[in-house]
Amino acid sequence: MSTVSPPSPEGTVDPATQHTRRRYDLIAPIYDWMEGLVERGRYSHWRAELWAQVRGPRVLEVGVGTGKNIPYYPSHVQVTAVDLSPAMLARARRRAAQHPDKQVELHLMDVQRLTFPDNTFDEAVATFVFCSVPDPVQGLRELYRVVRPGGRLLMLEHMLADPPWLAWIMQRLDPLVHWLIGVHIARRTVDNVRAAGWAIDQVVPLSPGNIFRRIVAHKPGEPSS
Ligand SMILES: C[S@@+](CC[C@H](N)C(=O)[O-])C[C@H]1O[C@@H](n2cnc3c(N)ncnc32)[C@H](O)[C@@H]1O
Repeated sequence: MSTVSPPSPEGTVDPATQHTRRRYDLIAPIYDWMEGLVERGRYSHWRAELWAQVRGPRVLEVGVGTGKNIPYYPSHVQVTAVDLSPAMLARARRRAAQHPDKQVELHLMDVQRLTFPDNTFDEAVATFVFCSVPDPVQGLRELYRVVRPGGRLLMLEHMLADPPWLAWIMQRLDPLVHWLIGVHIARRTVDNVRAAGWAIDQVVPLSPGNIFRRIVAHKPGEPSS
């Protein structure tokens, strides 16, 4: 079962966030097609591994996009999923309708300004999202705020490569890629997670150059297990 909240007013986001929203609204109709190959080759496997680690029961997924994670939600978890882009969210709504066995509520919302009270969720999940969020540390701080002490953050992200020559190229290409598709390719996401207050439990390299990684972290305060 799924529900969708009404869109928030267009004018409430800053220009950088507006740019990201516009890019994803434009890309939404072809997003699943664009990612088709890599989804079948690698992402689907990584998603399955990530969601197998999710305990719930109250889970926040940010940047749900077209809802590619929905088929992987464990049936015992209640997922609240948000996205900045109405066009991406509309596709997530369709996908949720195809999976009536999954418990998901969908909301149009900016991860940098979540409207949920403190300590609402047991876990937060993000897959390929913090490359796009204009102020990633602010978004990660918001996740920290709404996850309870002892709760966890699970992420799949691409970020700046480890080999210096590749990092150099990625840093130079970053402004162009961001302008074109709203994505930053030179983020230091593990550092950003730490800077937002999370305690890192696991960083698993998933690809050559350490570009793709799975990150598991927890909010200090109580034992995470
Ligand atoms: C690369 S897509 C990934 C979508 C999905 N998580 C997946 O794994 O296929 C990034 C998503 O993050 C969303 N996003 C970017 N900035 C956001 C923000 N500030 N708040 C909420 N969602 C955001 C975009 O609208 C887009 O749907």
